[in-house]
Amino acid sequence: MYSHSEVMPSAGPIVSDEACIVQTDNQRDLVRITSRSVQAVIYVPRTLPDWFLNLAAAVENGAFEVPRTILQNVTHDEVEQWVEVNVSTTRLSCEVLTALKTDIMELVDCLAGLSSARRFSLRIFTGAPTTDCGFHVDTVPPGASTCGLLRVYNGAGTAYVEPANVTGIRDFYHYLSRRERLERERAVARRNAVLEDCERLEREIKQLDLQPGFLKHRGQVQIAPAGSIVAFKHLDISRHWSNHGKELAWIHCSPMQGNPRLVINISNPQPVQRRTGWIAP
Ligand SMILES: [Fe+2]
Repeated sequence: MYSHSEVMPSAGPIVSDEACIVQTDNQRDLVRITSRSVQAVIYVPRTLPDWFLNLAAAVENGAFEVPRTILQNVTHDEVEQWVEVNVSTTRLSCEVLTALKTDIMELVDCLAGLSSARRFSLRIFTGAPTTDCGFHVDTVPPGASTCGLLRVYNGAGTAYVEPANVTGIRDFYHYLSRRERLERERAVARRNAVLEDCERLEREIKQLDLQPGFLKHRGQVQIAPAGSIVAFKHLDISRHWSNHGKELAWIHCSPMQGNPRLVINISNPQPVQRRTGWIAP
């Protein structure tokens, strides 16, 4: 696998090819995702509250589980109701559960502030990493605000690449289309229990991930650590597979091995509502 280099928070953007990623230890910098050229803002708190440790232990030993869930096009109140019912276990203290629920709702409020969203798509799950997904970009429906948020609460962080280390978006999509084809073929081989094909495709996927072909320096892959909040650009799906600018989407990859993690991703589900009203003649 990659030799990931841990990211240390540093103020200010790393500018390259007009696209940049901001690394910061100041939560207020998340608003910089609204700048056209900023692909992602990675906020790494200097310290994490104690409840993160209790939560991490419970997720990793299976005491706290959340089934893979997507809440599609829901309001703040609908998220809150879902969280109240589903973020629960008798194996975590009320204090930890309350802290987590509050944190989730603060993420929703944060995205509402960044993108003026009133409806949300929220993806949440606990689960161990797999090799099912390589480097990719997240997408939103045509016309939706492209700002989104990711928080991984424990375990291995999210890998990403600096825009300056990407040879070109065409090269990235070449990698992505090949990876998706191999994943589809492996899924068929698994379904049909053809062990020989499964093993061959596993090898091909590993080889592709070792040499993805769109990185100038394949050893230079960064990690947004667990506990960080990443505000990042989702690609308008109408631009997917096109030779768009690097600033339009954050190229990232979930870890492929390690303990179960709690992951939350919030994005915008619908086109931006343009304000209409009386216009002076
Ligand atoms: Fe993603």
